[in-house]
Amino acid sequence: MAIPVKADLSANWQLDENIIFLNHGSFGATPTLILEEQRRWQNLMETEPVRFFEEIAPKALLESRKAVSKLLNCDYDDLALIENATSGVNTILRSLEFNPGDEIVVTNHTYQACRNSLDFIAKKYSAVVVVCEIPFPVKSSQIIIENVLSCVNKNTKLAMIDTVTSPTGLKLPFEKIVKNLESLGIKVLLDAAHGIGMFPMDINEIGASFTITNCHKWLCSPKGTAIMHVRRDLQGLIHPLTISHGMTFPLGETTRFRHEFDWTGTRDISAWCVLPFLINFLDNLIDGGLNEIMLRNNKLVLKGREILCDKLNIEKPCPDDMISCIATIKLPGAAENGIPLHEPDPLHLSLLEKYKIQVPVWYWPNPEGRYLRISAYLYNHESEYEYLADALLELLNKV
Ligand SMILES: Cc1ncc(COP(=O)(O)O)c(C=O)c1O
Repeated sequence: MAIPVKADLSANWQLDENIIFLNHGSFGATPTLILEEQRRWQNLMETEPVRFFEEIAPKALLESRKAVSKLLNCDYDDLALIENATSGVNTILRSLEFNPGDEIVVTNHTYQACRNSLDFIAKKYSAVVVVCEIPFPVKSSQIIIENVLSCVNKNTKLAMIDTVTSPTGLKLPFEKIVKNLESLGIKVLLDAAHGIGMFPMDINEIGASFTITNCHKWLCSPKGTAIMHVRRDLQGLIHPLTISHGMTFPLGETTRFRHEFDWTGTRDISAWCVLPFLINFLDNLIDGGLNEIMLRNNKLVLKGREILCDKLNIEKPCPDDMISCIATIKLPGAAENGIPLHEPDPLHLSLLEKYKIQVPVWYWPNPEGRYLRISAYLYNHESEYEYLADALLELLNKV
């Protein structure tokens, strides 16, 4: 088996050089320079905490919202900095109110943590969760649009739609789904945990009621950084999970939404302060900036998927245009039936222990089997996917 190499750009990250890291999709990975910049903000905070929180932080966070709003094409006053996609989804779901019998649509590929929040809310209000089945393998985006639309009716109040599905790595036709549903008066909560930094996003054009996107995945920010967008007409409905001073603070020239989300208690906000520096860093990392990074990652994951499918003799489970920077394949052979998502598959452990490859493997029920998801980021190299394919051939042939 040929020993894989790392891309030259991997020197910008402090990832363990003994590990073939093919799982950017779970938690991202932050370049060393960005972690140093975060440390600089932490030092500033500890030099004069009162001045930091009262004077420096509000200005810094405004700059962060402005920087991010340019990438997302939306008004920075409609954005809130939050910790992660899970808390964003909870913020929206736990703010909204439902009547008994109201329907909430979600797909069977949705992220389980977000599904749990939805089930929790549905139970509280006696609302009904309608699960839209998306086939996998899937031949085209059109089937997904049709399936989602067939699940809505006059009782549907909300749909929680992913940009890219976590277990199956499908880039959903979310722009079309959102347009269709919002035009029917159904609010869409867009779970763009895989969003900013993965592909260009135009929030104004998409038009979802609520959008949550993680910066710590594809924008490589320090952990605990995500963005929530709430459409102006709906901001009165949405409150942070933590109610704080902003609830009663004199309104002045701003909105209650701003007051409530700009302060939810004392915490380390250094990761959020880094955003303008980070975006500038990525834009200058390679010719073509962030757009080129997204294109390269997409190209590399498609190449990685092709290598795996060729060597393992498997059909690609979806067309190339439904792939962004993560890709899932169904592995040949029998599944370790019924291993729940949160428990490690023994194959994952063998890949890690024997071959030093960090890549997720999980059981998925429909169709039942064992699935593997690759990611690609600038620090990855084609040879790493070759190596993964060879390792899989060795391991699977032994079973
Ligand atoms: C589709 C989707 N939603 C939500 C999340 C949760 O993200 P976080 O752990 O940052 O809250 C993930 C994480 O992988 C995801 O893939």
